[in-house]
Amino acid sequence: MAQTEKKAKSLEDLGISSTILRKLYDAGITTLEALAAANAQELSQTLAIPLPTVQRIIMKARDALGLGFKTALELKKERMALPKITTGSRNLDNLLGGGIETKNITEFFGEFGTGKTQICHQLAVNVQLPPERGGLGKKAVYIDTEGTFRWERIEAMAKALGLDPDQVMENILYVRAVNSDHQMAVVEELRSLIPKENIGLVVVDSITSHFRAEYPGRENLAARQQKLNRHLHQLMSLAELYNVAIVITNQVMARPDVFYGDPTMAVGGHVLGHAPGIRVQLKKSRGNRRIARVVDAPHLPESEAVFVITDAGIRDPE
Ligand code: GTP
Ligand code: MG
Repeated sequence: MAQTEKKAKSLEDLGISSTILRKLYDAGITTLEALAAANAQELSQTLAIPLPTVQRIIMKARDALGLGFKTALELKKERMALPKITTGSRNLDNLLGGGIETKNITEFFGEFGTGKTQICHQLAVNVQLPPERGGLGKKAVYIDTEGTFRWERIEAMAKALGLDPDQVMENILYVRAVNSDHQMAVVEELRSLIPKENIGLVVVDSITSHFRAEYPGRENLAARQQKLNRHLHQLMSLAELYNVAIVITNQVMARPDVFYGDPTMAVGGHVLGHAPGIRVQLKKSRGNRRIARVVDAPHLPESEAVFVITDAGIRDPE
C-alpha cells in the first residue's frame, strides 16, 4: 500500500495550514511522532479545531511514519529488515536472532552479578558502532535508577573497540532517576529528545528497583503493578514510534519462594508478563562465564548461550 505522504519528514511537509501549524506548536506538538500519537478528541477540544480536520492531519502524520494499514507481507519484510545491535558476544547475538532488536523491548533478568549492568554498558557503546560493525551509528540514553553506571567501564569498552573514548562518552546521555515518578517523567521527555539527538538505544537499569521500594508489601501490589504497566506501555510506545531499541533490567533473587505471590513477576521472574518484548534470563556459571536463555519467544531458539564478562566488555568465551 503506497503512502503518498511517505516522504514527509516534519509537520511542515504535511500541507497543514499555517494557522493550525501554529496552534500545534503552541500546544507542544512539534514532531510527526507527537501528532501521530495525539488523541483526536482532546486535540480538537484544546486547540478549537474541528474534529474532522484533526482526524485528517493525525492520519497524515501516521501515514508519513508508516503507521497506516500495511499487508502482513509488508509487516514481515519490515520486521526482518529492522537493524539490530550486537552485544559483543556472537553466541548471545545468535541466541537473540542477530542481536538486540530495535522497535522492541528486551528485558535482561537474573540474580545480582549476572551481568545485566555490564550488558547495558556494552550496548550503550555498541549502538554507536557503524552498521557494518553491528551498531546503528546512533547515540544512547542511559536511565540509571540504582547509581551503578560507571563511565570508567564505558571508557575501557570504547578503547577495546578502537573507538575514541571521549567521543563515545559524549554520545551517551545519562540520567539518574531518583524515584519512579522521575523515571516515568524522563521517558516522557524522550519523545522530544530522541528525534533531536539521533538516539538508537534507551537503557533503563533497573526498571523495577524504585517501584519495589516505593510500593512495598501486599497492600501496595495492585498500585505498583498498575504503575509499572503504565511505564512499560510508555516504553513500548517509544520503541514503536521512534524505531529505538529499549533495554530494561530486573533483578530477581535466587530463592524463587521470595517471589511467590508477587504479581509484578511473571512465572520465571521477568516483569514483561504478557507485554510484547524479549525476555532473557541470565545465570552465573564458572568464573566470569554467564549463561543466557530466552524465555517465551516462539520465534527464537530454545537454547542457551555462554558469554564472558572481561575487562574489554561482553565477549565470547575463548
Ligand atoms: P545487580 O545490579 O546487582 O543485580 O547485578 P548485575 O546483574 O547488574 O551485575 P553486573 O552487570 O554489575 O555484573 C557484575 C559482574 O561483572 C561481576 O561479576 C564483576 O566481576 C564483573 N565486572 C564488572 N566490572 C568489571 C571489569 O571492569 N572487568 C571485569 N573483568 N569484570 C567486571
Ligand atoms: Mg546492575
